[in-house]
Amino acid sequence: MHEYDLIADWYASHRTAHLGVPEVAALAASLPAGASVLDVGCGTGLPLTRVLVEHGCVVMGVDSSRELLARFQANFPHVPVRCAPIQSCDLQPRAFDAAIAWGVLFHLRHEAQAQAIANIARALKPGAAFLFTAGDVHGSMDGTPMHGVPFRYHSYSIDGYRELLRTHGLTLDATYKDSGGNVCFQSRKTG
Ligand SMILES: C[S@@+](CC[C@H](N)C(=O)[O-])C[C@H]1O[C@@H](n2cnc3c(N)ncnc32)[C@H](O)[C@@H]1O
Repeated sequence: MHEYDLIADWYASHRTAHLGVPEVAALAASLPAGASVLDVGCGTGLPLTRVLVEHGCVVMGVDSSRELLARFQANFPHVPVRCAPIQSCDLQPRAFDAAIAWGVLFHLRHEAQAQAIANIARALKPGAAFLFTAGDVHGSMDGTPMHGVPFRYHSYSIDGYRELLRTHGLTLDATYKDSGGNVCFQSRKTG
């Protein structure tokens, strides 16, 4: 999607500073020092990549927006990034101890979300955690435009995500809401 290229400066200055921070900090604290973490839809890297880096994680970012990645690289010049859609991004199999995707999957149509989860699952080591946000009601809807740019959102139900994760060897351990009301899915590669 290219919508974020159109609103990159606006997004960078309006991204809530605390959203997702406690959840990602808890994940990072559960990982061994030097753990490799895939940050899917990393955006500018603020604040979530910073949380991972400050916990000593070795991060790789993937994002489809060139404009946001330019800001990411200014913020984290030593963190490698790929500019690609996560559903087709070439990732090394079994490379990561964990992955996060905060505020990303709901931008993808249903089939693309399934492809994204399949691709992320392949890149995770056995036992690796995958923490992401999504909706919890199956469907698609127009959202409030951001800085005048329209966005459409897509979601499976929680049971739909559980089944999709299971298909790709992941077990959904818990769901809960973050401070912004987003549904967080805490899962692990078990298959
Ligand atoms: C709401 S922003 C969240 C950014 C960051 N995770 C955060 O918490 O600030 C959504 C991000 O997902 C990226 N994105 C959207 N579709 C994507 C896709 N198919 N593959 C990779 N990144 C994508 C956007 O470019 C944007 O950076």
